Amino acid sequence: MPVAVFDSGVGGLTVLHECLVSLPHEDFVYFGDTARFPYGDRSAGELRAFALELADILLDDGAKLLVVACNSATAAAVEELRARLRGRVEVVGVVEPESRLAAAATRNRRVGLLATPATVASGAYARALERADPEATLHSVPCPTLAPLIQAGGEVDDRVVASVEGYCAPLVEAGVDTVILGCTHYPLVRSLLQRTLGRGVEVVSSGQAIADEVERALRRLGLEREEGRRGRYRFMCSGDPEAFRTVGTRFLQLPLGDVTRVPVASASQGRRAA
Ligand code: DGL
Repeated sequence: MPVAVFDSGVGGLTVLHECLVSLPHEDFVYFGDTARFPYGDRSAGELRAFALELADILLDDGAKLLVVACNSATAAAVEELRARLRGRVEVVGVVEPESRLAAAATRNRRVGLLATPATVASGAYARALERADPEATLHSVPCPTLAPLIQAGGEVDDRVVASVEGYCAPLVEAGVDTVILGCTHYPLVRSLLQRTLGRGVEVVSSGQAIADEVERALRRLGLEREEGRRGRYRFMCSGDPEAFRTVGTRFLQLPLGDVTRVPVASASQGRRAA
């Protein structure tokens, strides 16, 4: 039985990458909901419906653990997923671990957040950071264009640079010493973000923290595979498998293998070709 990981597109591959490196003996299945990408400007209700639908597909596929490798979906739907799936499968989300890492990293207690408009509007990071450190202040910047530019898979060109510089400017102005990458696409431009924010700013992303959380959950539930075997991994997407393969291979930095197209409801709601 595989660990299932899902995202709106290729961003969750930054989480899968860490899981494959940390847990090479486990099997994984990844679902990219590319037909309905981007999630970042959708309503919480839409995101909850999508997350529940993908959870059903992945549970039917035999998932033993569900990883929501998308901040927008985690922010909108993780509580409802946990409530609905209690007793069937455990759900790991991306917001809490990053907030704890940020609270541990900040020295001046000014923390920045770069995330999709949906994630910022949910207030999920503000609540999670408050729980981790009630004294810390969160400066949030919604970044509507960044995940779509990354998902398009082009070069890190002038448009990406201008977009990153624009989004980082208020955080530099606010004097934050720690910035949460609140979208799983953003580690794919980490070097550009770090250069723009400056070497002194701690950049926090969720990949390694999630891999650790997956390992702990599997051990606690007694669901881990024996070490020493070589795990398998495969991919599903709701949009064009070839487009997913082309961009995904670059972002996973590992061979991609099989990509199967799996239709989802209301794929017509996708607002960009996948
Ligand atoms: N990767 C997704 C996230 O972490 C969002 C990108 C999008 O679909 O807008 O929020």
